[in-house]
Order: sequence, then structure tokens, then C-alpha cells
Amino acid sequence: MNQASGQPSPERIMQIATGNWAQSILATSAIHSLFNHLEAGADTPEQVSKTAGLSPRGTQALLDGLVGLGLVESRDGLYRNSPEASAFLVEGKPGYLGGFAQVVFAGPPNRADLPEVARTGVPVTPEPADLPENPFWEQLVPAIAPLSVPSALAAAEHLGLATTGPVSILDVGGGSGIYSSVWLAMNPQARSTQIDWANVNRIATRLVAEHGVGDRFHTTDGDFHTTDFGTDLYDVAVYSHIAHQESPADNQAVFTKFRQALKPGGTLVVNDFVVEDDRSGPPFPLIFHTTMLLQTTQGSTWTRNDYRTWLTDAGFTDVTFQPTASPATLVYAR
Ligand SMILES: C[S@@+](CC[C@H](N)C(=O)[O-])C[C@H]1O[C@@H](n2cnc3c(N)ncnc32)[C@H](O)[C@@H]1O
Repeated sequence: MNQASGQPSPERIMQIATGNWAQSILATSAIHSLFNHLEAGADTPEQVSKTAGLSPRGTQALLDGLVGLGLVESRDGLYRNSPEASAFLVEGKPGYLGGFAQVVFAGPPNRADLPEVARTGVPVTPEPADLPENPFWEQLVPAIAPLSVPSALAAAEHLGLATTGPVSILDVGGGSGIYSSVWLAMNPQARSTQIDWANVNRIATRLVAEHGVGDRFHTTDGDFHTTDFGTDLYDVAVYSHIAHQESPADNQAVFTKFRQALKPGGTLVVNDFVVEDDRSGPPFPLIFHTTMLLQTTQGSTWTRNDYRTWLTDAGFTDVTFQPTASPATLVYAR
């Protein structure tokens, strides 16, 4: 809406229609570490061009794009990162999302497939989840780890994990092992087990060791659909950013295995892009739905009621929801 005239404005539609321009500017700037060079003090196009090894013409085009997007500030010919870029786009900082921007930019999925997939309801490429040891996950899991940190911290506080003493944790589809890295660091008596594909577990083992807690981290390689989770073994279990790729029947089946694997009174922590029951929000989970349409045969962004039904049917009696600082919602089931 145009504030002055009260008439609809084309501005937002122009931004959406050119969304891949913004995406490519962000990802390309991350690929060439522009935000790092700016953070380190390069503040003229000449300095950025020299330190990043880019052409002067390319550097100016990227800086103009970043200023237009509000990620870089420009004054009197000098450039610097916006507070957002400084917090989330400087490689090496804990919140770094430049890797995520690069993975989304490179695909899969191929977004140009959407018109065809919307017609058929079936992806044109095999599902990442269907292929054992798919290299796709090797790119994705380190890139999305920072997205799970707010959830790991919020869940730790909710469960009082830092002060619970000896606690045993199961992380199914744990990816980078980010929950183990965060939780084992805050509780020296905690131990964790991650079930994931062998190629992903190798990455997690390296990353968790880099956090200094690798001696209390164990992995089991394999497909979680067919891997036994055990009985009465764990105080806390995690299922983060997985439910959206699974069918309702598979989520129901895995929640039943979680209930059996947890000790009486243990808590399952689900973290995912959960939508309201009337599918009116939040925006990011609604938009993410097309990614599951493109990449899976039965995945979706599931509603609170979906989770409540599956978890209750799996034998959990207490199901609660907690929004986080990321677009994900935490679901606690006891
Ligand atoms: C989107 S990532 C989520 C990683 C992590 N839980 C997080 O929140 O950052 C999905 C993870 O599930 C794993 N995964 C997907 N399907 C699997 C399957 N059938 N068996 C084992 N692991 C699977 C992938 O390897 C990947 O690590």
C-alpha cells in the first residue's frame, strides 16, 4: 500500500519478482567473502576490489546491490557492513548464514521446475532423503547448523540441560551435530548419540570434536526408518528439521520409536517450520512448503495439530509449542 495515496503499490511485487537478483547478490558476495573484507576495514570499492580479487566493475555492481538491499551502508563513498551483515554474514562468526545463502543459491531444488511440479505434485528429481549417503546433505548440514543454534539454546534453557547432571541424548538426523556441540559443552556430564548417514556422521564427528566435546559424542550410521532406537535409553531426544521431509505415516512411526527409546518422563524435542492450524502463518514456514513440494513426494510444512495428533498417537501425553528466534518452532513431547 502506498502510504501517501492509500492505493496499492507495485513495490513489494517488484521485490518478489526480482527475488533471485537479491539472492544472487547475497550469495555471490558471500562466495567472495565481501562481508569479511568490509569487516576487516576495506571501505572503498578499490580496497574491496583488491582484497577480494574482483574486477572494479564487478565490485561496484555488488556493492551497489548490497546497499540497495540494505546489507551494506554507504556514506561519502565509504562502505561498511550493516549491523545485520556484521552479525550474520561474516564468516567465522557463530551466526554465519553466508553458507546457507550459497547452498540455497546453488540448489537443488531447481526452482524453474516449480510450474511443472505444481501441476503433477511429484518432484522431477529423486528425493535427497531417499538416497543413502546423498552428498547433498554434506553441503547442507554445516550451512544450516547456525539456524538450529537458537533452538538448541532455547530447548536447553527450557529443559534445564546445563544443570541436570548425567543426561543421555539421542539426535536422529542430527546432521552437523549442532545440538550435541551446544548441549555437551554446557553440561560436562551429558553424552549423546546421533543416528544419520555415514557420510554425514563423519562431518558431525569432526565438527563436534572441534567444539571440544567429541569424547562424549557417538554415532550410528544408517537409515533412521530402519535403525532400532532402543528401549528406555535416553532422557532427551531430538528430531530437528526432519519432519518436513517425511510423510505423516513415517513421522508417526518415528515418533513411536522415539517414545520407546526415551526413559519414562523423557522429553522429545522436535524443531521444525510449523504452521498454524488454519495455515495463515507464520510466513517462512508457509513459503518453505514449495521446497518440500519440489524435493519430496510426501513432505510438507506440518501444522501444530499434525504434530499433536502424531505425538499423542505415539504415546506422548503432554505436547507443547515454543516459537524461537529462528523461523522454527520447538515442540516438546513428554
Ligand atoms: C535438514 S538436515 C537437519 C540436520 C540437523 N538435525 C539440524 O537441525 O541442523 C536433515 C538431516 O537428516 C538426515 N537424514 C535424512 N534422511 C535420513 C534417513 N532416512 N536416515 C538417516 N538420516 C537421514 C540427513 O543426512 C541430514 O543430516
